Amino acid sequence: MALRFIVTAGPTREYLDPVRFLSNPSTGRMGFAVARAARAAGHQVTLVTGPVALRTPRGVLRIDVVSAREMLAAVRRALAAERTSSALVMTAAVADWRPASCAARKLKKSGMDGTLRLVRNPDILRSLGSKAPGDIRIGFAAETGDPAAEAVRKCRAKHLDLIVANDVTQPGAGFGVKTNRVAFAFPDGRVDRLPLMSKDAVARRIVRFAEHLAEEGR
Ligand code: C5P
Repeated sequence: MALRFIVTAGPTREYLDPVRFLSNPSTGRMGFAVARAARAAGHQVTLVTGPVALRTPRGVLRIDVVSAREMLAAVRRALAAERTSSALVMTAAVADWRPASCAARKLKKSGMDGTLRLVRNPDILRSLGSKAPGDIRIGFAAETGDPAAEAVRKCRAKHLDLIVANDVTQPGAGFGVKTNRVAFAFPDGRVDRLPLMSKDAVARRIVRFAEHLAEEGR
């Protein structure tokens, strides 16, 4: 059964003026790998991505965004675009905070006092609320330290079917590398720790899990 995947990838950027922003080291590799794996398995894929230097996988509809608020709007539009249920995979490293204001012109060093007021960004997964029947939601969690307990908590709080957690301090895991060492955490408290594998292999497992849920009719 062909599914409709909406995958988010990369970092978001939160500008304080036209030349300065807050962001994080996400390269988008994990999200692009999920988009590629879903497409290769015959699914329809929309990829909502922050600023990254990666080629769009063939056959995937790509929507470029910059900030967390733009990503939220694009995800909402993609979810609303068709009536069929969807599998949302939130791989993006969304910035939790943004500068309270963004100046239209470059801020002058002399006019800055060394403090930056921040406001919370919306949490995209939380703001979507609970799922419609048939929808699948998968999140990611980058932690420093053993991610298992925190991952199960987030999985429940964000109404997810699965959270893919990794300790970004482990060699070969996390930002900017082609491999990942992840744990799959489920809302019932189960945690499967997977060995070090390529991001492509992690992506294939995620797609297979979504297919399995869809076949079960959940
Ligand atoms: O709570 P934490 O940021 O660790 O949760 C990570 C998950 O939540 C990821 O799937 C990420 O894409 C998503 N997220 C979000 N909106 C945010 C921050 C994170 O949807 N503002």
